[in-house]
Amino acid sequence: MNEINREQCQRSLDPIVWGPTSKVISTTNTLKRVHTLSTVISGTPTMRAKQMNGISAIWKAALEQLEAHSVNDIKESMKSQLTTVRGGEQVLEIYAKQFHAAKTPDDLRKCVYRFQKDIATMSATSDFRKTARGQNGPTYIASYWQFKKNAESKLHRNFVVKWTNWTEICSTHLYAAFSKHLKNGHTNPFFLVPEIAVIDFDKHVHQRPNCPQVFLDQETTPQLKQSIIDVMGKNNCPQDTQVMLIEKINGSNLSDFAKTKYPFLSKEQKLELFEKIGMLTMLDMVLGNTDRMIPFQYNSTTEQYQYLKRMANLGNIMIRWDTEEDEWPELYAIDNGVDSLLISDEKHRIAYKQCLFKTLSNNTSAIDSIAGITLKSMAYDIECRAEMPSEKKPEEILLEFKVFLNDLRESEEVRIALQAGLHKMHAILETSISSFWDNEQNLDTKNHLQINHPELLNAISERFEIFNK
Ligand SMILES: Nc1ncnc2c1ncn2[C@@H]1O[C@H](COP(=O)(O)OP(=O)(O)OP(=O)(O)O)[C@@H](O)[C@H]1O
Ligand SMILES: [Mg+2]
Repeated sequence: MNEINREQCQRSLDPIVWGPTSKVISTTNTLKRVHTLSTVISGTPTMRAKQMNGISAIWKAALEQLEAHSVNDIKESMKSQLTTVRGGEQVLEIYAKQFHAAKTPDDLRKCVYRFQKDIATMSATSDFRKTARGQNGPTYIASYWQFKKNAESKLHRNFVVKWTNWTEICSTHLYAAFSKHLKNGHTNPFFLVPEIAVIDFDKHVHQRPNCPQVFLDQETTPQLKQSIIDVMGKNNCPQDTQVMLIEKINGSNLSDFAKTKYPFLSKEQKLELFEKIGMLTMLDMVLGNTDRMIPFQYNSTTEQYQYLKRMANLGNIMIRWDTEEDEWPELYAIDNGVDSLLISDEKHRIAYKQCLFKTLSNNTSAIDSIAGITLKSMAYDIECRAEMPSEKKPEEILLEFKVFLNDLRESEEVRIALQAGLHKMHAILETSISSFWDNEQNLDTKNHLQINHPELLNAISERFEIFNK
């Protein structure tokens, strides 16, 4: 397979990410119906199957009667039959609007088809998951088969929905611009960023990849917001009114990867992975993203940023690796946000820039020492999470991470690989940041930042100045 085809296959973008607003609306409406169906049809698998078959038979029979009876008679008969099976009336409630409005055989047929597609989608659904790892959440992960007309063909749907804010949205665009720049000419990219679409319910806008933004009408916005809330729950931060529709990465976050696939990587692949982590960590440092690996922390007594062993966030890196021999693990930067204090708080911005300047302009040993602290912070994330209440004992959890933890704590080669990544990205930024940042190709990213988050644009431009000779 050539590189482009391979990437297209592995990263087939879901229509909720690239499609028009009508696609977002229809997808969320379908999900809402399927969710409700799955709560109504409940119990053990045998009970569910029996209940589903009973309800489905009534809807199917309606189709068969369309030739011989009037639409009204069929509807009346359906209503009374549905009262005799468990959950029948609640299921009818889901389709009430379309069902009551049905006047012609065609209207009723469409309503039955919709029910049949939803039931098929619900039955074949492998994964609707909410993760509440962080404070922001919930992050809603959807992976399911959506049945098409008359439940005859199906489409695999794969996406993530997340409440967000403009800092995360603009930071994601920024990381994507760097990813593209760094990938130039390399078959094995340093890191990738999932594609995103955005809906802002306050500004009434919908932004999607490679398209001009569209304005939503006053009626669409509240309806769409409500169906997203119905599907994924309210935001933990009530003031946030932006939602991000994200390409789902066919992999796992670094924490899950460390437990499952990491032990099966070859030594070269492991070192390659740590080099990439080192590169991303250096970029995070310069951009001011403190929610992944970086070991800086503000000390309010000295009013300085200092190195500290602090919990890394292994949940903000995803790894895709297919265990095929010739494949290198691909690293995705997710949940990309510049620290808000490093955007709008002048005292913090100045202190942080001083710390960066000291670290990056001094000598190689300052960068080298970041590697050791970063590895400790990564281990600390695992150690702290193992202590959190769960069904397993902390020792059992730590055992699952044995190979990974051992490399973090003991491996000289891993530390050197991480160091190499830090230096590599530092050298790239030092030699090309001004030309990259001022390049015309970046105009779109810069304009996006200028319009949606000018403070962020200023803050990072200010930090890039440390590379000016
Ligand atoms: N695009 C994606 N594809 C697949 N899985 C994803 C994607 N985005 C997020 N996830 C999964 O959901 C988890 C939480 O996502 P994310 O980090 O965006 O949420 P969060 O609430 O901001 O988390 P935190 O505050 O802990 O960083 C990730 O660790 C990952 O396992
Ligand atoms: Mg996260």
